[in-house]
Amino acid sequence: MVRELAEKTTIDVLLQEKRVFHPSKDMVNSSNVKKWMDEHGIKTYDELLERAKDIEWFWGEVPKEVVEWYEPPKKVLEWNEPYAKWYLGAKYNIVHDAVDKHVKTWRKNKLAFIWEGEPGEVRKLTYFDLYKQVNRLANALKALGIGKGDVVGIYLPMVLELPISMLACAKIGAIHSVVFSGFSAGGLQQRLQDCEAKVLITCDGLYRRGQVVPLKEQADEAIEKAPNVKKVIVSERTKYPISWTEGRDLWWHEFVDKQSPKCETERLDANDILYILYTSGTTGKPKGVVHAHGGYAVGTALTVKWVFDIKDEDIWWCSADIGWVTGHSYIVYAPLILGATSVMYEGAPDHPQPDRWWEIGEKYGVTIFYTAPTAIRMHMRYGEKWVYKHDLSSLRLLGTVGEAINPEAWMWYHKHVGKERCPIMDTWWQTETGSFVISPLPITPLKPGSATRPLPGFSAGVFDEKGNVVKEGGGDLYLPNPWPAMLRGLYKAPERYKTTYWSRLPHMYLAGDKVRKDEDGYFWIQGRADDILKVAGHRIGNYEVESALVSHPKVAEAVVIGKPHPIKGESIVAFVVLKEGLKPSDELRKELREHVAKEMGKIARPSEVWFVKDVPKTRSGKIMRRLVRAKVLGEKLGDISTLKNPEAIDDITYAV
Ligand code: WTA
Repeated sequence: MVRELAEKTTIDVLLQEKRVFHPSKDMVNSSNVKKWMDEHGIKTYDELLERAKDIEWFWGEVPKEVVEWYEPPKKVLEWNEPYAKWYLGAKYNIVHDAVDKHVKTWRKNKLAFIWEGEPGEVRKLTYFDLYKQVNRLANALKALGIGKGDVVGIYLPMVLELPISMLACAKIGAIHSVVFSGFSAGGLQQRLQDCEAKVLITCDGLYRRGQVVPLKEQADEAIEKAPNVKKVIVSERTKYPISWTEGRDLWWHEFVDKQSPKCETERLDANDILYILYTSGTTGKPKGVVHAHGGYAVGTALTVKWVFDIKDEDIWWCSADIGWVTGHSYIVYAPLILGATSVMYEGAPDHPQPDRWWEIGEKYGVTIFYTAPTAIRMHMRYGEKWVYKHDLSSLRLLGTVGEAINPEAWMWYHKHVGKERCPIMDTWWQTETGSFVISPLPITPLKPGSATRPLPGFSAGVFDEKGNVVKEGGGDLYLPNPWPAMLRGLYKAPERYKTTYWSRLPHMYLAGDKVRKDEDGYFWIQGRADDILKVAGHRIGNYEVESALVSHPKVAEAVVIGKPHPIKGESIVAFVVLKEGLKPSDELRKELREHVAKEMGKIARPSEVWFVKDVPKTRSGKIMRRLVRAKVLGEKLGDISTLKNPEAIDDITYAV
């Protein structure tokens, strides 16, 4: 791809110049990881990586840094490939660590969350407040008959009721499945049905760029086709008028608030399921990634404690949406386990002005800030003048996630936001990995654009097309060993779990990313190797957008590709074959873009729709996206021996 090539050039230049950033001695000496190394007589980072290769020793040793079991594990790991069990025999509930344990300490009145709404109101929630709210909702769910193993759907924007809902489910052993509030009725319905949710928690609407976006409306439409949902708890956020189904819908402020603020936490097995989170795959419906209580708690809490060096005095701000895994792991569970104070912001980063984020950073004295490259590029476009309107001197560490950060954006972030003082933690991981895997620590020399090396207790490698391991150079990324926060499977899809991740190479987890490893063992992620788009950090399957397009009555076939975009990383380009006798028009183009937005949500709306007579296919009828992409990006077509209809390639132009 063009983007890959361009990035390679820049990276090569950086490598030639040996532009490497070293963290300050103070940063290194005061870090949580250094403290642990000192306690264990470990002198260097390389020695730590070496010692941690004994994963059972390492992962057996670190839980006491972060979690409290009800009953300790009898065994660290049981690996029945491709299924791992961690901390066997441990009695546990993640809510004990995230909430309960803090109310017995001085942290009882410490702030868990500082929340700011887009219109500007502020809510501060202490650990004790959080405890009571979680208990009330847990009791409300119990009153609706929800218990261990039942699935609860959650469709909420960035409001405090979202973490409260997740924790309330986990508290009673129920499994939550959060659906990103940017999805529309179609996406919600598909997910609610697949996980067989009995209850849905939602709200009337949300604020986005000064407008109210109705949410309950979407939920109502989704539930019409997902009759498994019997009760709906509705939180009031915007007072936007909504329709009401008597006997099914319940107001949070009426039904939940009257419940008791006391509730026993269910003592679970460490390997019991905590949540299902759907993520896009390359074919078929989205995959329900399953995570379990114990290993996930240890994996996420340890990685954030070490990588972002969170201490009691810090103000942590992860700007992700809780509807995606970054928010699950690093806004809700891990920071709460550490007893940290987090900032949570509801709205758009540039509303009402491009300095909204920097204003928030200054107002709450944020010390550690974690965001996505797409957001950094957006702020770059607005210009650094907006950053300099605010005093961000409290910042000490920065981070990124979601896609590779181009070195230009890295340098801008480092210079203007971090004032050349703050190391940038470029964390590579996935919904499936649950926690960071490849990432620097505040003691690691950094190369802009590289996520550096696998963290202690993790390993990663590169293999070429023939399946041989590559010591230095490019190929596909794999993870050879299990790790505590790894997915425990795909919900109700064991075969798909095996074929997607564990079949291409024996005994190795296939990540689905292209990567290059340099002579220092640093990893440079080059993007997805499969048909998954990353649009403004959101993970969307090409296949999903194509399905949404062909669900339109006028569309016969569609092929969707990602095209490099200077801010969003990729933008969605669709080529559409209309049904017999129908004529292309600008109105229809608009209609199709809106149709996808309605079916899936605005995040999946194609930037461009082009009409073609045919799409390239193999002799067996499979659409060849690779060729469409190559044609659009002006690259070599490569092997076309299986192509059935070469004329379709010529048809792929922007002229239609
Ligand atoms: C990409 C998000 C380069 C990658 C946590 C991965 C990255 C996919 C990085 C997972 C990074 C994530 N550098 N690429 N630091 N972080 N990715 O499941 O392609 O939404 O496979 O999880 O994002 O996306 P997901």
